[in-house]
Amino acid sequence: MSTSHQKTSAAIAALDYVQDGMVLGLGSGSTAEVFVRKLGEYVAEGLSIKGVPTSERTADVAREAGIPLIPVDQADCLHVTIDGADEVDGHFQLIKGGGGCLLREKIIAHASDLMVVIIDETKLVGALGEFPLPVEVDPFAFTLTAKKVYDALTRSGIERPDVQLRRKGDGLAPYITDGGNYILDCACRTIPNASATDQALKTIPGVVEHGLFLGLARVVIVGEDSGARVMEL
Ligand code: A5P
Repeated sequence: MSTSHQKTSAAIAALDYVQDGMVLGLGSGSTAEVFVRKLGEYVAEGLSIKGVPTSERTADVAREAGIPLIPVDQADCLHVTIDGADEVDGHFQLIKGGGGCLLREKIIAHASDLMVVIIDETKLVGALGEFPLPVEVDPFAFTLTAKKVYDALTRSGIERPDVQLRRKGDGLAPYITDGGNYILDCACRTIPNASATDQALKTIPGVVEHGLFLGLARVVIVGEDSGARVMEL
């Protein structure tokens, strides 16, 4: 069966974590968008929630779906964030940021009481790193920052990482995040010690944030052909 069916099945299962009156972090990416559209159907039937989107794109989808949004600085608390991921390992460690929204996604996930991750089964991995790790950097001196990122990845046990500036569809202009930053996509093949990589990247002044989400997800819902498999830590 298709990954699209699996994404839908994970998104529907995530609705079990939503209750009336909640403020929800709304993730980004194709799987999160399926969830947002399903949530919109429940809102149309009377569910009362408010959403805080993690990207401009998700804000647009949520508005289309009829979900009331609040500005993030008016959210006193965030009950649950539902988001996708590019890779998830057996310890619920994630790589995110394939869609370029990792900074806002991490801020919202970190501020939430609960992060629920929804994925199709292709995202479950034995070890993180086959998906290139996105690192969001300040455009100022990004070439110098890229060298520091390479050094940090190497120091944390990654052999010969390939650090590339993400570009727009035209292949020329740098891709710009919602926050006005650049993204370095770091092909690592495998990340042997995600905590060490996290710590090493954090020491670089030009790094705004990176796509390793460690200790944030408490629930992972995997869409499979036979339905949704819910895993809780
Ligand atoms: C967006 O920046 C990402 O973190 C997405 O959550 C991630 O790339 C998963 O996206 P898909 O659901 O489209 O695979």
